[in-house]
Amino acid sequence: DWNMGNFINEAIESIRKEVGDGQVLCGLSGGVDSSVAAVLIHRAIGDKLVCVFVNNGMLRKNEAQNVLDLFGKHFNMRLQYADAEDAFLSALKGKTDPEDKRKTIGKLFVDTFYNEARKCGDITHLAQGTLYPDIVESKSPFGGPTSTIKSHHNVGGLPEDLKWKLLEPLKELFKDEVRELGRELGLPEELVDRHPFPGPGLGVRCIGEVTKERLDTLRDVDAIFIDEIRKAGLYHEIWQALADLLPVKSVGVQGDERTYREVCTLRAVTSQDAMTADWYHLPYDVMQRCASRICNEVKGVNRVLYDITSKPPATIEWE
Ligand code: XMP
Repeated sequence: DWNMGNFINEAIESIRKEVGDGQVLCGLSGGVDSSVAAVLIHRAIGDKLVCVFVNNGMLRKNEAQNVLDLFGKHFNMRLQYADAEDAFLSALKGKTDPEDKRKTIGKLFVDTFYNEARKCGDITHLAQGTLYPDIVESKSPFGGPTSTIKSHHNVGGLPEDLKWKLLEPLKELFKDEVRELGRELGLPEELVDRHPFPGPGLGVRCIGEVTKERLDTLRDVDAIFIDEIRKAGLYHEIWQALADLLPVKSVGVQGDERTYREVCTLRAVTSQDAMTADWYHLPYDVMQRCASRICNEVKGVNRVLYDITSKPPATIEWE
């Protein structure tokens, strides 16, 4: 039987022993696993941990600020922050092919991450939020057949000049245990219970060309959708809820004004492991509130669709 208090004490012991006089680098993504890993390691070794956070410009509304506030101010961790929004946007300029977009974002992420890492002094270990199911390959959402359908990005293989050891303090845990551990370590509930979010972020949800303006529009749509799902008490029934902005405009009317604006889709699915998923039967009144709030509050959108496709045949993400 798994015991939280014992786990934390033993993990702290073993992290201290493993790291010795070294220094650990941890990439923060804003997701559950890397956040919990960072806070656990921080508790063990304090300022011998340095976190790198790359803002790729494809994050959710207020996400970058939230990460800086929580880890930098609240937990008082050493935090190396790279605001790479402009670099990502210029690399993506004119690109519309999904794989091309993913590869561009993935490669630039890796380059940016290691550039920041080189500024952090003498690092001996790289921390990863690897969980037990990630190791058991057949169970991994990214190790199975989906990984050949879409290129998933993470930190990848280490560059040759960086001779770091891996530190994976969560590798014996399942997701539920990681969430429980996160709560115990004082992470906020909205972070601990968060839906999965892809590495390329809103970049693969802005269908067609990614621009700052379209990302800002999508951030607003996404924030309203998630807010309504939370208010309706449905967030935990859903594996993942996402909004996409389509490269399509439609005619609308608001007041006595004709509009010609972008179309967005909302998608919510239930799933066990992301390998297959069922579209979620979102109650009509929730759909209704989302549609009316989005068209009223988001300047660039005048039409809202709901995606009723399961996986297969569709994937969870659109790109
Ligand atoms: P698909 O769209 O293939 O997604 O059905 C399955 C799950 O994987 C997430 N996803 C990613 N996660 N990096 C990630 O860390 C990625 O590049 C990536 N692409 C998709 C997706 O959100 C879903 O949970």
